[in-house]
Amino acid sequence: MSVLEKRLLGKNVLITGAGSGIGRAIAVLFAKHGANIAINDINADAANKVADEIKDLGQKAVVFIADVSDQPQVKEMTKEIFANFEQIDILVNNAGIGATFTSIIHMKVENWDRIIKVNLRSVFLVTRYIARRMIKNKAPKDQLRGKIINMASMRGKTGRSGFGAYGAAKAGIVNLTQTLAQELGKYRITVNAICPGLIHTPIYGPISIENLAGSSLPTCLQSFKPVGLPEDVAKVALFLASSDSDFITGQSIPVSGGQGFV
Ligand SMILES: NC(=O)c1ccc[n+]([C@@H]2O[C@H](COP(=O)([O-])OP(=O)(O)OC[C@H]3O[C@@H](n4cnc5c(N)ncnc54)[C@H](O)[C@@H]3O)[C@@H](O)[C@H]2O)c1
Repeated sequence: MSVLEKRLLGKNVLITGAGSGIGRAIAVLFAKHGANIAINDINADAANKVADEIKDLGQKAVVFIADVSDQPQVKEMTKEIFANFEQIDILVNNAGIGATFTSIIHMKVENWDRIIKVNLRSVFLVTRYIARRMIKNKAPKDQLRGKIINMASMRGKTGRSGFGAYGAAKAGIVNLTQTLAQELGKYRITVNAICPGLIHTPIYGPISIENLAGSSLPTCLQSFKPVGLPEDVAKVALFLASSDSDFITGQSIPVSGGQGFV
């Protein structure tokens, strides 16, 4: 790729949960486009492997191991990040966990709390600390200071039986994205979310694409592509991170092959 084709040349990006699946795909694509990556995960081995991939692409990669749902850890991670990067231009709040299929009347309270904590509280915490610095980023007057991309889900757009806690957490992200877009717009920061449908990643454990496809609602493109790949989401994240999307904020964009919009 020529330098002119690189959409994120010299940008510093923090990606949470970048050790696997969608986060890893975003890290690799952004690095190919000239970004330096702050890689967060709770899994050190996975994060270090992704850091090696980024370094092989010639970009800076630094690993920050922290549980993003834990306030003291996020505070400490923020300090370490700014000891390694002058500023963060793009934040991708991607870390998340799936949930086992359970109806609300059978759900354990501890399960509800854990799903909300890891999937929603983490977005509040990381954004709170990083945006405090992002609003001071140096940027020419005709450019944005920063971009925030939150990983929601189609489950955050419409409720679905058995996905109560996960859906509520992701709907919370969709709503928080709108609030943040309003609060941070005056600082020239955009905030958008992506709502993936079914994407083949380790979040589902070791399952084949065919079996995964059979476990969910059909897409509109069933015969062409019943299940998405992490790279399908990464390409939309690249658009939201690049200047091509500068006039888009507060939106939650489905990447689902048309699945789940009714
Ligand atoms: N795969 C899908 O079908 C799908 C659909 C909709 C939304 N999503 C969302 O996309 C995001 C990424 O999911 P994925 O499918 O790539 O999953 P994944 O399991 O492959 O990757 C998630 C990564 O987040 C890390 N992580 C988990 N909890 C963490 C914590 N507390 N602190 C820091 N890191 C943590 C994990 O170690 C892992 O590396 C999640 O927010 C998920 O809810 C996924």
